[in-house]
Amino acid sequence: MISSGRGCYTALLKRNARLSPSCSLLVIERPDGFPDARPGQFVSIRVSDSPVPLLRRPYSIMDLAPKTLSILLKAVGRGSAEIAARKPGDAIDLMGPLGGSSFPEPEGGSAIFIAGGTGLAPLLFAARLWRRKRILSETCILYGAGSRGELLRDLVMRDFSECRFATLDGSSGFRGDVVALCRDLARKKRLPAGTLYSCGPRGMVRALVGATRGVFRAHYTSLESIMACGVGACRGCAVPVKGAGAVALRTVCSDGTVFMAEDIAWEEWEEWEE
Ligand SMILES: Cc1cc2nc3c(=O)[nH]c(=O)nc-3n(C[C@H](O)[C@H](O)[C@H](O)COP(=O)(O)OP(=O)(O)OC[C@H]3O[C@@H](n4cnc5c(N)ncnc54)[C@H](O)[C@@H]3O)c2cc1C
Ligand code: FES
Repeated sequence: MISSGRGCYTALLKRNARLSPSCSLLVIERPDGFPDARPGQFVSIRVSDSPVPLLRRPYSIMDLAPKTLSILLKAVGRGSAEIAARKPGDAIDLMGPLGGSSFPEPEGGSAIFIAGGTGLAPLLFAARLWRRKRILSETCILYGAGSRGELLRDLVMRDFSECRFATLDGSSGFRGDVVALCRDLARKKRLPAGTLYSCGPRGMVRALVGATRGVFRAHYTSLESIMACGVGACRGCAVPVKGAGAVALRTVCSDGTVFMAEDIAWEEWEEWEE
């Protein structure tokens, strides 16, 4: 477990850049005293001063530099749209860094990243951090989005030495989802060995577990789930995780966000929410 040293902070938004029709890069002034964070940790952002929407919205830390904290934000509903509408100079009320586990550094220095949509954010943070620390020199990512317009190519190509893209409509890169791309590369024996780090929609990660069994040394995934408190108090984000012969409930916000992907009881998790 990470000792998070988390807190609530008010920080200024320095930059809000639209990267695609639905995604923006928010660069926030790093608040005084905001602790170092690890890939897989997140911040929880207050949407507005009004009581609705009440709950903060969780966002993975995409980068943390001495003076800035960056997140990648996709507008999917009212809360994210309100945060995306903030302008440089606006105050952001954030809590963090949250999350009790993070992506471990790759054993033997070899890693592959697989991202779906905004699942890119924590993987980008890991790749940047480990390159800065000289843990990784080569970084390979498989990254999928719905279409060419949603694919954040420039962002990815700046940070990874080898990039393979997939789009559902085939408008850029491989036609299909990133799991199908992964299967295709595995069949052609063109995947690097090592540790797999993933983040994306739940169905994607579940399918990835089936597609990559026996291919990688280990598979760590940063999970997303609907959250309320974000700090382990309400149990609203619990997921079933296999332990010594039994399944136990773990919270994504404080036991995670990072778990061994094969430890998640995927079927039970889906059955609960039907
Ligand atoms: C640990 C964590 C890290 C995250 N990191 C990022 C990130 O880096 N970038 C990013 O854009 N988003 C990220 N998300 C998702 C983001 O928090 C949600 O998109 C946001 O809370 C939606 O708020 P809203 O009010 O706009 O949508 P709502 O109006 O609350 O919901 C709109 C739709 O989105 C779905 N939805 C809402 N929250 C989630 C969720 N957590 N997982 C799956 N579906 C959801 C709802 O079911 C609904 O269909 C992360 C979530 C978690 C738990
Ligand atoms: S959101 Fe409350 S325990 Fe995770």
